[in-house]
Amino acid sequence: MKSSKEYLQLIEQALKDKSYGSSPKELYEPISYIMSLGGKRLRPVLVLMATDFFGADIKKALHPALAVELFHNFTLVHDDIMDKAPVRRNQPTVHRKWNDSVAILSADAMMVKAYQEMCKAEAALLPALLDVFSDTAVKVCEGQQFDMNYETEIKVSIIQYLKMIELKTAVLIGGSLKIGAIVGGAREEDAQALYNFGKHIGIAFQLQDDILDVFGDEEKFGKQKGGDIIANKKTYLLLKALEMVEGNRYMKEELHQWINAPEFNPKEKVEAVTTIYNFLNVKELATKEMKKQFDKALTFLDLIPVVVSNKQELIMFAESLMVREI
Ligand code: IPE
Ligand code: IPE
Ligand code: MG
Ligand code: MG
Ligand code: MG
Repeated sequence: MKSSKEYLQLIEQALKDKSYGSSPKELYEPISYIMSLGGKRLRPVLVLMATDFFGADIKKALHPALAVELFHNFTLVHDDIMDKAPVRRNQPTVHRKWNDSVAILSADAMMVKAYQEMCKAEAALLPALLDVFSDTAVKVCEGQQFDMNYETEIKVSIIQYLKMIELKTAVLIGGSLKIGAIVGGAREEDAQALYNFGKHIGIAFQLQDDILDVFGDEEKFGKQKGGDIIANKKTYLLLKALEMVEGNRYMKEELHQWINAPEFNPKEKVEAVTTIYNFLNVKELATKEMKKQFDKALTFLDLIPVVVSNKQELIMFAESLMVREI
């Protein structure tokens, strides 16, 4: 297999060669804008890696890989509207740079373009590919709706949280690997094992995203610091904190006050809630859960009969995602 850098170069080149349309410019400029802001491109890299993992020609996986990246960026544009996020990849979000209507519609077009891109894959593989792609896409919507519902629900369990992040984030990471595996001609059970590997890596990835939202370097992470705190997102950090303040009347009152405050200074709220998180050490608990999910992922890789060196490449890439700052 190649190094993840080489897969990334292939993706970046293919993206550079793509054009999305020009008129009306309000529809197409946001697509070029968000697609050219970079990002880690981890999902298309995973598509290529999975195809290579099973020893097939990765050129066949290029269209599906681009499809997945287009789909991911579509979800980000809508996610930023729903999360009222001002910044993404260190730049203004699409709905801030233009407006909500432009962001909704250009992202819709991106989703359609994602399907068009997927349809350029080998015809014989299309039913299986579209099946995974569509199943994944609907699950992402389910996860996003749970995410929003939980903003205003106080009694969310860790199990509900883990299911929510599985849907909104992990299935697309698992799905990317499964799509690559299908292109690679994998047996169904091996494609499924790789999906499950990706699913648990994806859960760990979202836990890390939630940690970085609070504790990351704003410059590097490229998103507003504490956005999840401002929106009362039921992250692992908040759920653990809510659980732990039960034994501390003063802290319980303070945390609930911030959560229930109809109006507040965002900076003050982020600082106050972060102080509570630090006091309770919830970051450590979230990191522990991340590690648990990572180890669970590895057990699925064990099930697949391919050479150990290929598995090592995937493991190394997954490990790099766990120590990311962006
Ligand atoms: C952001 O995904 C959304 C989540 C699922 C956390 P990434 O962290 O992969 O974003 P980019 O594409 O690299 O910017
Ligand atoms: C992202 O969750 C999930 C999807 C985009 C589907 P977040 O809302 O945490 O992602 P970021 O932090 O805005 O990238
Ligand atoms: Mg968001
Ligand atoms: Mg969100
Ligand atoms: Mg986030």
